[in-house]
Amino acid sequence: MPDTSVLHHAAQRAARHYEALDHLPVAARASYGELRARFDRPLPDRAEDPIRVVDDLMDDSLDGLVGAGGPRFFGWVIGGSTPGAIAADWIMSSWDQNAAIYQCSPAAAVAEEVAGAWLKDLLRLPSDASFAMVTGCQMAHFTALAAARHRLYIDRGIDVEKDGLFGAPRVRVITGDHRHESLIRAIRYLGLGAGSVEQVALDADGRIDLTALEAALDADPAAPTIVCLMAGDLNTGAADPFREACAAAHARGAWVHVDGAFGLWMNASPSRRGILEGVELADSWATDGHKWLQLPYDNGFAFVRDAQAHHDSMAMTAGYFIAADGSGRDQVNWNPEWSRRPRGMVTYAALRCLGRDGVAELVDEACRLADRLVTGLGELPGCEVVAPARMNQGLVRFLAADGDHDAFTDAVTDAIRAEGTAWFGASTWKGRRVMRISVCNHRTTDADIDRTLDAVGRVLAGMG
Ligand SMILES: Cc1ncc(COP(=O)(O)O)c(C=O)c1O
Repeated sequence: MPDTSVLHHAAQRAARHYEALDHLPVAARASYGELRARFDRPLPDRAEDPIRVVDDLMDDSLDGLVGAGGPRFFGWVIGGSTPGAIAADWIMSSWDQNAAIYQCSPAAAVAEEVAGAWLKDLLRLPSDASFAMVTGCQMAHFTALAAARHRLYIDRGIDVEKDGLFGAPRVRVITGDHRHESLIRAIRYLGLGAGSVEQVALDADGRIDLTALEAALDADPAAPTIVCLMAGDLNTGAADPFREACAAAHARGAWVHVDGAFGLWMNASPSRRGILEGVELADSWATDGHKWLQLPYDNGFAFVRDAQAHHDSMAMTAGYFIAADGSGRDQVNWNPEWSRRPRGMVTYAALRCLGRDGVAELVDEACRLADRLVTGLGELPGCEVVAPARMNQGLVRFLAADGDHDAFTDAVTDAIRAEGTAWFGASTWKGRRVMRISVCNHRTTDADIDRTLDAVGRVLAGMG
């Protein structure tokens, strides 16, 4: 039997690092040059001791890591990982299961089937929708929109899986101008072309403008059309008016897809799900597990109302396939990948560890703490709230004595990261530089918000 002492050693060191995240500086400290000097060794000719390799890996990386799993990381929309989910992920690696087809790992296929049904229940999506567990929301867009492409073309007598896009009419993709770039990449991968995307205006509240949407749909009603809606704008947390937008799109034969990378999780909270009213009327949904569900990377989910279109856009066979036992699920028929990790097992374990109430509490807490943080920042001298917290997102900026608020906002955001207590990202919103706030970690507490506000206050005082 191989020596497994490195597994025990790594588990202990990894657990200690996870515990230390509360105290470690959140920003990476090491420069590119320092990291290069540490990692850039000659490829060894002979085997090295795995314990030594793991120790080097952890020691060389430590100050080059961003504390994204810790409680005061407020950049992008990242999410942490819960101990139960991490443990399940480790076990998956040690089992080395290939969750491509049922016969490769029957247990993985069944766990995935159950976890998929649980997710639909939790997110209040149609129980007969199909699903796929992919690497992230971008690939969930790709998977869902492959089903959309199939349906729109097959209904026009075009078999795109067989004949490709040659000679096919152009698909129109209509979005609000708050769409995430990952959607555009998915559209590029599908051969639909970024040039097929038509952006319509948002209303004053940052939601897709229904009059503009209807006008865009009416501009070419015969064209195969996909409307992409947002459940959670990355900057402001705004959610589109799903009921009305779905009605307008469906009346004109369009497919409606929802980017709910983080925002779809509002549906898991009884007190907050009103913001997504009507989202279940769409045709497909994409979301992430590695954001609000606190799964380790990489976990995203696609759901498709038209299960047949989903299946027909992905399904394949090969001479060496072994038929699934009974009605067991061959994941390859729903996913773009072939060999893959048993993601469903990790999702299954995480959902059991949290429970329905635990997920709701996670969502509610993150939203409450985001509100506290954005409001508290806005009370600091020289800080202006640009977008109050909606869901778990908000924006602020810092006002400079010389009037160059953009440069000052970037400088303050950089200085906060350098101080090390908390991590925020910068962005441009409506032509202004802003600091983005996203609270998406189960470890964040009121004490973390207090520590962060104190730190930002100190940084501002030092720059004033
Ligand atoms: C709104 C939104 N959509 C899509 C994505 C892409 O998700 P992923 O990185 O998991 O592919 C993100 C990621 O931040 C996002 O915030």
